[in-house]
Amino acid sequence: LRILVLAGGLSYEREVSLRSGRRALDALRAAGFDATMADVDTSLPTRLATDPPSAVLIALHGAAGEDGSIRAVLDLFGVPYLGPTAAAARVAWDKPTTKALLRQHGLPTPDWVALPHDRFSELGAAAVMDRIVGRLGLPLMVKPAQGGSGLGVSAVRDAGALPAAMVDCFAYGGTALIEQFVPGIDIAVSVIDLGGGPRALPVVEIVPHDGHYDYAARYTPGRTTWHAPARLSADLAERVAVVAVAAHGAVSLRDLSRVDLIVTPSGAVQVLDVNVSPGMTETSLLPLAVQAAGLDLGATLGSMVARVAT
Ligand code: DAL
Repeated sequence: LRILVLAGGLSYEREVSLRSGRRALDALRAAGFDATMADVDTSLPTRLATDPPSAVLIALHGAAGEDGSIRAVLDLFGVPYLGPTAAAARVAWDKPTTKALLRQHGLPTPDWVALPHDRFSELGAAAVMDRIVGRLGLPLMVKPAQGGSGLGVSAVRDAGALPAAMVDCFAYGGTALIEQFVPGIDIAVSVIDLGGGPRALPVVEIVPHDGHYDYAARYTPGRTTWHAPARLSADLAERVAVVAVAAHGAVSLRDLSRVDLIVTPSGAVQVLDVNVSPGMTETSLLPLAVQAAGLDLGATLGSMVARVAT
C-alpha cells in the first residue's frame, strides 16, 4: 500500500494544509505505512499517470482542495482517495447549499441570507443593511459562502458594522453568507468510518481566549483551549453526535469529516458547517478527537485509506 498525501496547493489555506499534510504524513509513517507527500502543482497529472499511488489522502484545504476539483482529477486517473465524491465535496464546500440540504433533512442550522457581490453593489450598503437586519435581526455572522479557517469571517453586533464586514468577506470570495449569530458553546464533531458505518468521535469543545475562533486563535498555540471530550452531559453529547452523523449523511459525505456546531445555553443544537478535509495541524480538532477516542492518528487514517485503496 503506497499512500500519497496531497497538501499545499494555492488556496488561502496553503500554509495550514502544509501543516496538516506534514502531520498526517508523520503519523502514517509512525504507524508503519509507506507514505509520501506532494505539493499540488501542475506536475500532479504526470505523477498520477506515471507513478500512481495505491490511494490518496487529501490534506488540502480551501478552494481546489475542498471544492471537488482535485477529486475529479483523481477520478480521471483512476486513483482512489479518502472522503466523498467530487460532487459531494462540491456541495459541502458551498455553505448556503449545505445549509439548504441540512434543512431539507430536518437538521437545524441558523437562518441565513446568501448575497453575491454584484447584488451587494447593485442594492448599496444602506439597503443591504436594512434588508438583512430586518430579516435576520442582530447579531449576525458574516462569512465567505465558500472558505475555511475563519478567513473573512466577522461577528456583527450593530447594523453599521455590516457593510465593512461584507467587504472583508468579499476579499475571500464572490458570495457572502450572512447568518444569524447563535450564542452558545462552539463544538466540533469528527465523524469517521472504520468499516462499520459513520460514527462520531468524542465531541470537542472550543474556547478561544478572546472569544473569537479566528485564524490566529485556530493556529497559534496558546490562543484557544480545547476540551476533548466536551464538558457536556452524556445525553447532550449523544444528541450532538447523532446530529453530526446525520449532517455527514445529509451531505453524502464518506470516510471522514468534521461537523461544526453550536450548543445553546438551553441545550439546542445548531449545525454551522461540514468539512470534507478537516484540519490535521498540531492545533486542529480532528486529531484531538481521535486522541480522545483512544485511537492513534496514523493507524486510524492508514486503515481508512487502506480500505479505499485499489
Ligand atoms: N479549513 C480548516 C483546515 C478546517 O476546517 O479544519
